[in-house]
Amino acid sequence: MAPSAIEVESTAYISSIPSVKKILSDSRLSKSNGIVFGDFRDELIRDGYAVVKGAVPRDRADAYGKAFYDFLESFNLGYDRNDSSTIKRDNLPVINEKGMVLDYAAPHENFVWQVRSEPGVVETFEKVHGTADLIVSFDAINIGFHDRSDFPKNKPWPHQDQDPAKPGFRCLQGLVNLQPCGPNDGGLIVCKGGHVVSEEFHRDMVDEPRIPAWTPEWFGFTKNGMKWLEDHGLEWVKVCAEPGDLILWDSRTPHYNVPSTSKQDRMAIYTCYMPVSEATQEDLIRKKRAFEERLGTTHWPNARHLGTNIAKRDGIPCPYNRSRPFVEPVLTERAFKLTGIPYIEGLQQ
Ligand SMILES: [Fe+2]
Repeated sequence: MAPSAIEVESTAYISSIPSVKKILSDSRLSKSNGIVFGDFRDELIRDGYAVVKGAVPRDRADAYGKAFYDFLESFNLGYDRNDSSTIKRDNLPVINEKGMVLDYAAPHENFVWQVRSEPGVVETFEKVHGTADLIVSFDAINIGFHDRSDFPKNKPWPHQDQDPAKPGFRCLQGLVNLQPCGPNDGGLIVCKGGHVVSEEFHRDMVDEPRIPAWTPEWFGFTKNGMKWLEDHGLEWVKVCAEPGDLILWDSRTPHYNVPSTSKQDRMAIYTCYMPVSEATQEDLIRKKRAFEERLGTTHWPNARHLGTNIAKRDGIPCPYNRSRPFVEPVLTERAFKLTGIPYIEGLQQ
């Protein structure tokens, strides 16, 4: 359904060029199309991922990193950012083996909303989607401690975040990196160019048993699947970035994250935007509830799945569960549009 009354002023950078989405959706164009953007879009189209340098100015990225540590210390369970010996599960909110904090209203902490509202981040997605009428996911935040000895092992889980039955470009994922992230620091690893061969892969491997997943929108690569990628000359690349850089990847590009082998914590805020025109009114109403109840949505901005804010600690609800953020978000007008609420028809503003 088309968005309702909201008028977002178009800017030249959006309207005068073909959207990346259109290019990536057309398989004839995804390899060599002659279009040169001269920025991250060229890498994104060619490699299936890209790094947008300095999408968030360094001073603000550092402030968001501090706010992330404030959030972790706000539970008063014994974690101290300046004392590595306090990196214990009992001293922290529940963090899964991949480093994600899914609950405790973390997706709505003020600093998380500030990251989502950063002009350099929002404009990047406007350029890709060719519209300023976007909605943003309320996704998890990620802390990959340099010492994970008290945490479950983070094993590789190479995957695509897209149902193979729905091929073509559908979703651009992103994360804002908040700590130095070099080759030995934890973070995203991608199979370069995997988006281009995705349909061929799924045709060839149609008989391969599927790794069970909670949603058809997740496809895990088996040992045979990994061999297929290797046999076709594809390579895995650890994506490096500085604080404030925005990392983007096509959901078809195989990816996962690796733990740090250095003394550096890894810190990421997931940021994913889609045109509001791709969400239904029902989606937007569900998303409004997620916003008001401070729930997470996964990376899908149309809030296909909602979280609960009931973290489980050793199988039972964590006694430190929260239903509101440590610091409630203060949204700018631009950020509020990204909630999708202003696009709900018939809603009193
Ligand atoms: Fe993923």
